[in-house]
Amino acid sequence: MRAMAAILGIGVLAALGAAAYVWTGSAGDVQSVVMPESVDLVAGEALYAETCAACHGANLEGQDNWRSPGADGRLPAPPHDETGHTWHHADQVLFDYTKLGGREVMAAQGMEFDSGMPGFGDQLSDQEIWNILGYIKSTWPEEIQDIQYARTHGVPVN
Ligand code: HEC
Repeated sequence: MRAMAAILGIGVLAALGAAAYVWTGSAGDVQSVVMPESVDLVAGEALYAETCAACHGANLEGQDNWRSPGADGRLPAPPHDETGHTWHHADQVLFDYTKLGGREVMAAQGMEFDSGMPGFGDQLSDQEIWNILGYIKSTWPEEIQDIQYARTHGVPVN
């Protein structure tokens, strides 16, 4: 049961990532959300510590056993460093997930999903969210940054 729930949870996020990838990749009439040119990494680091670290870890290490749902059936907070899957997602997904929270993002895809990831849209401005995401990305090795960039912009990895 637990293993199945874990597979389901990860599958759902993977599907979300794939859907967003296709969507942002289709360009033209749809406006995709990408990180602004200018982000404040210092402010982002401070905001991360205040707002995200309690669950995702002071060093972006995530919670223990983050791949398996806890007793409440919810997945723990995954790491945001390169050992997690944050970098598998395009900017749009990361932004929406942070602004709206897991439940609302999944509901928008027609999926019912009990998520432990709250939405921060009431608490953080869009620029503050980008500052945090910019900080998170800045901690990744260059190679991982390149893959996430390619995924966001629908271009091949260099
Ligand atoms: C109350 C705990 C909690 C806080 C605080 C929190 N998160 Fe989360 N977050 C989670 C959980 C739990 C998940 C994974 C499970 C899920 O998606 O439902 C998650 C997932 C995510 C994901 C998706 C990652 C992936 O690989 O799919 C992103 C992005 C994210 N959080 C960003 C943030 C940011 C940025 C902040 C701070 C502004 C933050 N979170 C604060 C609990 C939290």
